[in-house]
Formats: sequence, C-alpha cells, structure tokens
Amino acid sequence: MGDARLLRRAGEVSAFDTPELHSLLADMRDTMLAMDGVGLAAPQIGENLRVVIFEVAGNPRYPDAEAVPQTVLINPVITPLKKTMEEDWEGCLSVPGLRGMVPRYTHIRYQGRDEYGALIDRTVSGFHARVVQHECDHLDGILYPMRMRDLRQLGYTDVLFPGQDLVDE
Ligand code: NI
Repeated sequence: MGDARLLRRAGEVSAFDTPELHSLLADMRDTMLAMDGVGLAAPQIGENLRVVIFEVAGNPRYPDAEAVPQTVLINPVITPLKKTMEEDWEGCLSVPGLRGMVPRYTHIRYQGRDEYGALIDRTVSGFHARVVQHECDHLDGILYPMRMRDLRQLGYTDVLFPGQDLVDE
C-alpha cells in the first residue's frame, strides 16, 4: 500500500495462451503460495493487467473456509445479483499485518476468461463472492480500506486476532 502501481486501472488482456501470460501466472502462483494467500491480482506484483488468481481449498491458514476452486480469471466482469451486502474481516497481501471490516455483495455472477481464452461464468455467494470482489478491486486500483465504512474497524491482525494465523487476499 502506498505504491502507485496499486492505484491504477489495469489494462485488458488481448492475447491468450502466450508464453508471457503463462509466465506471469507462474509468478503469481509462486507469490500466492509463498505468502499463503487465497488470491492475488497481477498489479500486486507490478503487472498492470486484468488478471487474478484465487483458490481456497486446502489453505492451511483457512482450514474452515468453504472451498473455492483454483481459478485463473482474466478480464473479469462482476454483476451483483442482490443488493444485499455483508460485512466481514479481510486482509490483503499488499496491506500486510492489518485487518479491516469490509462490506461486499453476498451474491454475484462473475464472467471472464481463463489463460487459454475459455469462458468462465459462475454464480457464487459468501466467501467465494468476497474473494472475487476483493481481487477484482485490485484491477481498478481499489484496496480494501477504501471500501470500509468505519475505519475504527481497521487494526493490526495480532491485536484483533491474537494467536490466530489468518489468510490474506
Ligand atoms: Ni488484496
């Protein structure tokens, strides 16, 4: 947080199944794995492209979270399916050590393409919907504190959740 590259609108990907795109995704997977995250957006490693990855299944820091399949989502479009929003805690690999209470739509449809250009079209809710909204915000230069309604609910993870090893997005 503070790096101007996290505040830009990322550009559309126009070519799929290219060595450059596969290389970017390998870097993103390595980074997410090394940092034990559930999701990562290309701008978080300095690439100004509309590419996000996420996966929740088997994350040792989130054993109780509902499974979210390993997904590569490119040029995403999110459509809220209900007006309902729900607040919950989020962390971010680009905002280390902090947690904040963030409102997100509970039910969304998301569409986009995978790294081969195949269409993705899913209707999801709950934590899955939250992760997708968090990651796609990175593509529009939005970090979760910018979505918060009450900054009194922003704090250090080890103060808010002492002894817990929580996951970031
Ligand atoms: Ni994040």
